[in-house]
Amino acid sequence: MTSDPRSHLPEDFLTLDGQKRFLDAFLPVRNQVIRDFYRDGGSGHDASRSPGRKWRAALRLLGTRGDETVPELYRLYYNRLFSAIWLALNWGPYTPEIRAVADPLLRIHLSQVNSVDTCWKPAVESAPADGLLVEVGTGLSDGWARIALLMPQVRIVSITIERDQAEIGRRIAGELGLADRVRFRVGDIFSPGTTRDLAGRADAVTAMGVIPHFPPPRKAEGLRAMGAMLKPGAPLLLFDAYRTRSFSRFMDRALISSLSWYPARADFRKALDEAGLSPVRFDIHQAETCLQFADDTRSTDVLREEFGPFIAWLFPRIVSGFMRGLLKPQESVYVSAVRD
Ligand SMILES: C[S@@+](CC[C@H](N)C(=O)[O-])C[C@H]1O[C@@H](n2cnc3c(N)ncnc32)[C@H](O)[C@@H]1O
Repeated sequence: MTSDPRSHLPEDFLTLDGQKRFLDAFLPVRNQVIRDFYRDGGSGHDASRSPGRKWRAALRLLGTRGDETVPELYRLYYNRLFSAIWLALNWGPYTPEIRAVADPLLRIHLSQVNSVDTCWKPAVESAPADGLLVEVGTGLSDGWARIALLMPQVRIVSITIERDQAEIGRRIAGELGLADRVRFRVGDIFSPGTTRDLAGRADAVTAMGVIPHFPPPRKAEGLRAMGAMLKPGAPLLLFDAYRTRSFSRFMDRALISSLSWYPARADFRKALDEAGLSPVRFDIHQAETCLQFADDTRSTDVLREEFGPFIAWLFPRIVSGFMRGLLKPQESVYVSAVRD
C-alpha cells in the first residue's frame, strides 16, 4: 500500500466522457435501489401509497409550513421525489461543454457529477491513494460513489443525518462492489459522538450543499466540527452558496419551510473565520451558470410511474420556479480551506 500523493489523475476525472461513463454505471443501480427501497416500505413512509404525502411534498416548496426536522424532511419528501428528476440533491454549475449536450436530463446529471469532481478535486489530486476521505451529506449517493469509483483504493466515510440515505447508500455500495471501502454513518454533525473517532484522521472532508441546513447562529460551529476531522494541513472542501441580495418574501418562506438558511457573503466568510478555517481556494460561480438547472428540471418516466401524471406535471414546475427564485440572488462557491 502506498501513502504517496497520487502521481497521476484518474482518466475519467473531470472529462465529459468519463462523467457519462460514471452515469451509465451508477444511475441504473441508484434508481433501482431507491425504487426497491420504497417499494419494500423503506422506513415505513411509502410516499407512493400515501396520497396526502405526495401533495405535501410538492406543496412544501410553495412555502407551506411544516414542523418536520431536517431528517424528516428528507425522509418524507426529498429522497424519493427529487431522485426522480435529479441525480443529487444539489445543483451544479453548467460548463459550455455541458450546455451543448442535447438531452436536458443528462445535462442536469452532468452538471452535478462535474460539480462533485470540481469540489473533490484537491482530494483526488493530493490525498494519498489509500487515504481516508469523509463526506458530510450522503444525499442520493452520487458524491461518494463517484469518488470511490475514481480512486480504487481510497476509503470513504459518508455521514448523513437521515437514516434512509445511509441505508440506500449501503445497498448501492454493495451493488457496486464498494462495500469494503465505503462506510455510512447516521448522525448529526453537531453531536460530538458522530465524529469523535474521526478527529484528526481525514485526508480531506467534503460537504456539498450541507451548510444551508445549519441554523444561522450555528454555521461556524458546524464548520468547526467538520474541520476537526482533518489531518494537519488536509483540506475541507465545500460546494455551497451564499446570497448576494435578499430573497423575495415568498422565497424566504419557502426556504424556511425547507429548513434552509443561505448566509450573506460576509457572514459565510465570517463563519469560516470563526471556525478557524483559512480559505485557500474560493471559486465563485455566478447564478447564470446554474440557472439552466431550473429549465432542465422536468418530468421523468420514473416520476410519472411512481407518482402519477398530475404530480409528474406539477412537481417539476414548482421545483423549477423554486430554483429560479433561489439561484437568482445567489452565487455558488467551491471553497477549499485548511485549519489555522
Ligand atoms: C441538500 S443535501 C446535499 C446532499 C449531497 N451532498 C448532494 O450534494 O447532493 C444535504 C445533506 O446534508 C445532510 N445534513 C444536513 N444537516 C446535517 C447535520 N446536521 N449533520 C449531518 N448531516 C446533515 C443531509 O442528511 C443531506 O444528506
